[in-house]
Amino acid sequence: MRQVRPNILEVGAIDWDRKLFDELIPLPDGTSYNAYIVKGSEKIALIDTVDPPKIETLITNIVESGIKKIDYLISHHAEQDHSGSIPNVLEIYPDAKVVTNEKCKNMLIDLMGISKDKFITIEDGQELSLGDKTLKFIFTPWVHWPETFSTYLVEDKILFSCDFFGSHLASSDLFVIDQAKVYESAKRYYAEIMMPFRGPIVKNLEKIKDLDIAIIAPSHGQLYDEPKFIIDAYKKWISDEVENKVIVAYVSMHGSTKKMVEYLVDALIKRNIGVKQFNLIGVDIGKLAIEMVDAAGIVLASPTVLSGAHPAAAQAAFLVNALRPKTKYLAVIGSFGWGGRMVEQLKGLLANSSAEILEPIIAKGEPKSEDFQKLDKLAEEIAKRHKK
Ligand code: FEO
Repeated sequence: MRQVRPNILEVGAIDWDRKLFDELIPLPDGTSYNAYIVKGSEKIALIDTVDPPKIETLITNIVESGIKKIDYLISHHAEQDHSGSIPNVLEIYPDAKVVTNEKCKNMLIDLMGISKDKFITIEDGQELSLGDKTLKFIFTPWVHWPETFSTYLVEDKILFSCDFFGSHLASSDLFVIDQAKVYESAKRYYAEIMMPFRGPIVKNLEKIKDLDIAIIAPSHGQLYDEPKFIIDAYKKWISDEVENKVIVAYVSMHGSTKKMVEYLVDALIKRNIGVKQFNLIGVDIGKLAIEMVDAAGIVLASPTVLSGAHPAAAQAAFLVNALRPKTKYLAVIGSFGWGGRMVEQLKGLLANSSAEILEPIIAKGEPKSEDFQKLDKLAEEIAKRHKK
């Protein structure tokens, strides 16, 4: 249990050991599930809960806080890492009402079987008084589910933002101290789950821009007592601007594709273009996603396996398609032995992307002088786009 401000406590759990989220996203620095108690002069609110394996920590912290009742349990988001312990809390505090919006309520009923009579349904902009403290609900959908909202604690100027502005970072520091470290973790978090929703995030930032915010208290990672730091970071990530940077993500079986990649990377560097090269075998997809946030372009390089793309390249294409980065162009290069549909397959997997698709370069077997010439031409085409 940690004090945020007088009568405002963080009672969630730090998960130092978690290595993977959603059985998909690597967590190199663990994570936390932040939950908060706000004690008003008349009513007490618990804001979000924790992932079910951490329920004991949550309950211990609530008991240690000294509160004897919970009047309102604010549920910002139905995903289980924040709502999965609601049924346990309701068992111990049966008079608590779950305060949430209609969408989240329906999801909580579907996911957790919470009884309909346990809910108070709120609207966007609605306020709830705790006596000397006021909670104002601000709907901030698609960060990263459709039901998500935030709560602004008016008197203390704290925005409880749930996943919005969060970071997967286990730390004993309640507030951000090392901004560079948190920037990296928050960018990874944005890249992995927020990036497909740039449009709604633009609207959500607009919606909170006039709030006087002293603290942003997300439900993962550290709290921001200099909120401008993370708001400015989000503004940069959601902008249309890209950096002078190309991701070259490759897999190679017998070395032909790797030779092409090495040649292209060298040709790009000679043209003063920043390159992030990834061997897709064993890659941390979080690192790949981080670079997608602001890379101008992506080159996928694959050999041909059983007439199609290598599965590792297909997975990377699937990821680009799902995360919808703001990248301006995409290119496919690689090699084949006796034929195949590698390029068509990768292009098919990139169907959601509105990026320009550059001319593919596919070598038959080992790359030869004409292939290297084509790679020079590709580097030149990329350089032209970066000059723009
Ligand atoms: Fe942290 Fe979308 O749950």
